[in-house]
Formats: sequence, structure tokens, C-alpha cells
Amino acid sequence: MSTTAQTPGTATSRASAVDAFEVRPSDTARTDAERAALMEAPVFGTVFTDHMARISWSVEQGWHDRRVEKHAPLQINPAAAVLHYGQEVFEGLKAYRHDDGSVWTFRPWANAARMATSAHRLALPELSEADFLGAVEAVVRTDVAWVPSGGETSLYLRPFMYASETFLGVRPSREVEFLVIASPVGPYFASGVKPVSIWVVQGYHRAGPGGTGFAKCGGNYAASLLPQQEAYAHGCEQVCFLDAVTNSELEELGGMNVFVVGADGSVATPPLNGSILEGVTRSSILTLLGEAGHDVQERPITLAEVRSGLQDGSIAEVFACGTAAVVTPIGRLASDDFDLTVADGGTGPVTASVRAQLTDIQYGRAEDRHGWMHRLL
Ligand code: COI
Repeated sequence: MSTTAQTPGTATSRASAVDAFEVRPSDTARTDAERAALMEAPVFGTVFTDHMARISWSVEQGWHDRRVEKHAPLQINPAAAVLHYGQEVFEGLKAYRHDDGSVWTFRPWANAARMATSAHRLALPELSEADFLGAVEAVVRTDVAWVPSGGETSLYLRPFMYASETFLGVRPSREVEFLVIASPVGPYFASGVKPVSIWVVQGYHRAGPGGTGFAKCGGNYAASLLPQQEAYAHGCEQVCFLDAVTNSELEELGGMNVFVVGADGSVATPPLNGSILEGVTRSSILTLLGEAGHDVQERPITLAEVRSGLQDGSIAEVFACGTAAVVTPIGRLASDDFDLTVADGGTGPVTASVRAQLTDIQYGRAEDRHGWMHRLL
């Protein structure tokens, strides 16, 4: 076990199992020139580094065989449980390069905790924070040349865990694989950091009471794809779901949380009611806006309230947030029976300011007062 370096003055010491990872170098690692070409302007999630971190689990052995190996196709039996019953969870976090060349990640222990919560809901084994941090550190240190610098670029990290047992019976898998893959990225949306349009879908729900809405599992995203297609068909980049009980309250977007900013400076986001993902960016924004003196509310937000607020001007801004999307302004909300534009096309000051505050911390341009940053190298 080793303890990783900390931001001076924000010494939250976290155990990491990075030293337990055996590095097995790829025999097909890209040359410097190949890597530079691939990192030129990658479309989100399309370019991957040379290695991945991996830990295997079985009922008999627990978590074992911590290693970093070549990023390569997985050998998976067609009867593997994940292919049939979707027993899988994942995470998303980023590694940021600071101006001095150091490499950091943002609140990775929050991702570790959420992955444990998601795993529990999907009857998967829980991975310790030390193993989660160790795997992230191990792959980033091995592939540090792939951490981009400049602009709003980063190395997107995708930890995930899946049921690998070859077995068609419906019960929790007795074998599981955990991996972290890495992908150099720029902005999530093809349009860059510009206001996006949102389609409020009224005929589908993402999650319901007692379901898996709070878990970051592939099934939630699978269920969002058809409604997401409906959004594309109406010229919108993202879909927004309403709650399954009353079909009247905003829950979240296909892959992001949502915030509404009042003309009076108050800020609201839907509460964590069991069907909403507990976003790390969401919680950081609540902290930053609260400290900046905004009246910050986690409360149900009805679609009716948003429609009238946008029409009468009492809602000034709407934005989406997530690790991938960071803070993305929303310029338009539409559905079967309305089509509304947000004031100033969605380029309001609260959205811009919280985005700047957050990214300044992540990229080392502002003091990390909360001890959110974790140095990787
Ligand atoms: C993230 O923000 O990291 C996510 O997992 C969302 C996904 C749509 C990319």
C-alpha cells in the first residue's frame, strides 16, 4: 500500500493499492508520432490509450491479480452473465494535466464510493477505495503520455465491472472483472462548449421507485437510448426524463444532472430520491454555489414550473452537468407540446461562473480549498 501525494494544505490522505499492480507492458504501444496524431482532436470516447488496469474477482479468491495490461479486446464466453442479464456497473472521472506538468484527478473517492453503492444494487462485489484508486493511478501512471494538455482536454477514465461467469441461470455471477480504460478527450458534445437543446420525453421513464436509477449501471443508459433517439429526431442533443410516479417532475438527462437558475439568483436541482444519479459534479456545484451566496435548493422541480418560469422570465438559466459534460448550458427545452428558448440563448452568468470555478480547480488555476484534487503523478 502507498499513500499518494496531496495538494499542499489540503492533506486528505487516502490509501491506494497502486503498488500491488503488476505492469505488463503492451507489445503494440503506439509511437510518439502515432499518439500525437490520435490526440489531435479526438471525438469523445473514440481514442484509447495503450493499457488498461484490471482486477479479477471470484467467490473463492475475492479480488485478485491486480495488473496493468495491454488495452485489447476481452475474451468473453458468449454465455457470460453480463451479455444476458446486464449485471454491470461503471464510473466516469478524468485526469487533468496542470501547467507544471503534474497530473490530478477530482474527488476520485466519491466515484469509488458510488461504484460500491452501484455494485451493491447490482449484486456485484464491492471494490475497496484503495483498489479503485490504485487501478486509476496504475493506468494513468503507465499511460501518462496520453494525458493531454491545453484547453479543456483531459484523460477520461472509465472504471467498470461486469459479470464474467459462464452461466445462463439467473443469479449473481460468481466471477467478475473490474477494469479501468482511458481515453483522451475534449468537450463531450460535438458542438463544443455551446448551449445544447433538451427534449423532455413524456412517453418513457429512465427509472422508478425501488429501481436502479441511483446506480450507475449500463441498463439505465440502455433504457435512455430510444428516448435519446427521439431527442435527436427533434433536433435536440439530450433527453430529459420526468419522474415515473407523477410524470411531472424533472429527474435527469440521459447522462447528466440538471440545474435551474432563478432570476432571483436561487438555484435548484432535483433531490436524490432514489431514481437520480448522485453526480460528483452535481454535489460540487451545490457546494460552490452555496458558498457563493446563492439560495441552493435540492427539491422537486415540476415541468409546469419550468415552462412558466421560462415564459415569464423567473427562470433565467438552465444547465446540465456531469463528469463528461462538466457544466453545459441549456439553450432550449422542447417537447411534444412546447418549444421554449432560455434567456440569452442559455449563456447566463451563473452557469458561466460555476463552470469557470469548477474547471479552475480541476486544472489547478484556483486554490483547491475543499481538498477535492488527488495527485496522480
Ligand atoms: C460521465 O459524465 O462521466 C458519464 O458517465 C456520462 C456519460 C454520458 C458519458
